Amino acid sequence: MWAVGGGKGGVGKSFVSVHLSTACALAGRRVVLVDADLGGANLDTLLGCPRPAHDLGDFFAKRVATLDEACVTTDVPNLRLLAGDGDTLGAANPHHAQKLKLIRHLRRVEADLVVLDLGAGATFNVLDLFLAADERICVTQPEPTALQNAFAFLKAATLRSLEKHTGTKIRQRVDGSVRALSGGASPLKEKPVRLVVNRARPAEGRSVANALADLANRFLGLHVVLAGTVGDDLAVRGAVRQGRPLFLSHPASPAAADLRRIATSLLEPCRRTPSQVAMGINESLVVDGLTVHLQTEDLGEGQGAVVSQVFRNDGAVLYSRRTPYSDAFFVKLSVSPQDRARYHHAAIRRALATGRIQLPIRRTA
Ligand SMILES: Nc1ncnc2c1ncn2[C@@H]1O[C@H](COP(=O)(O)OP(=O)(O)OP(=O)(O)O)[C@@H](O)[C@H]1O
Ligand SMILES: [Mg+2]
Repeated sequence: MWAVGGGKGGVGKSFVSVHLSTACALAGRRVVLVDADLGGANLDTLLGCPRPAHDLGDFFAKRVATLDEACVTTDVPNLRLLAGDGDTLGAANPHHAQKLKLIRHLRRVEADLVVLDLGAGATFNVLDLFLAADERICVTQPEPTALQNAFAFLKAATLRSLEKHTGTKIRQRVDGSVRALSGGASPLKEKPVRLVVNRARPAEGRSVANALADLANRFLGLHVVLAGTVGDDLAVRGAVRQGRPLFLSHPASPAAADLRRIATSLLEPCRRTPSQVAMGINESLVVDGLTVHLQTEDLGEGQGAVVSQVFRNDGAVLYSRRTPYSDAFFVKLSVSPQDRARYHHAAIRRALATGRIQLPIRRTA
């Protein structure tokens, strides 16, 4: 299950959801695209479907027993749509039990891939669907306001995830300080959030991703990686007017190529492939009596950063530190490019040994 969110309205979440779903369906996966913009549903229009016979409203009102019964076919082979219910006010705000039931049933849908198009904002309903997904995709545009919103969205998701994980109200404890959020472990931190920078040039996308990844890492303890950049393309308007995805209406357009590339990279296993990693080091360490794995990767010129992560045996990420090549750490020490990962790795190992980095390890009595 992939969720496409990002907080700010109009940045292209629906556009990205439709095209990632379409690309994966055309690549042979059985895909269900869910219009989870509860209250602002419009994917049927983007896909040129006549008003669907069934939608999420039927599921909430128990007119159908399963989400599969509420799905409709589309013109794209392998792609079904679970349309939103734009008309019923109740569906815009399903109560807690309904939301939990929806999440449970989403996991049972007959498909290889379920893609959730989330609405704008960071309401609990949006955040809980974002957190329930296996891949979390955050869409932004390169403008500072969009970035601010993307960070605010990730912060809200971190708070929500920590609250649900620990069962306590973090908001009261951290007293407004986001710094405190970077410490605690939560399911959101176990996998990178994939960033799509929409309506941007590739270089712009990379610098936006670096800036957001650095902030998210420092203040939220989150690992954010660039899934890809989609250019601003006039073909998009034509596709929307025709009610057909770009891959059918303008398959050779630059935006279609960008989206195809992003879909392909997301379909790869979540871990980065060795070819994308310029250099990697793995080491097992014992910290506070617990065996952990320190892994450092130089992400190469494309991402321009080195990342160290500490994993538990079960794969949970206990710590993550991303350092851009431009950081004073590398500059002051005049580290040569081939030594960046080694220096970074050694610095994190030292900080773990001296207690400067504290891992959220629950000590047993
Ligand atoms: N790369 C692009 N090039 C040109 N136009 C684009 C691009 N991406 C999105 N758009 C246009 O921007 C508008 C907003 O996109 P979209 O509806 O996908 O945003 P959204 O984030 O889902 O908005 P909302 O928060 O209201 O659901 C649409 O008209 C879409 O066609
Ligand atoms: Mg939308």
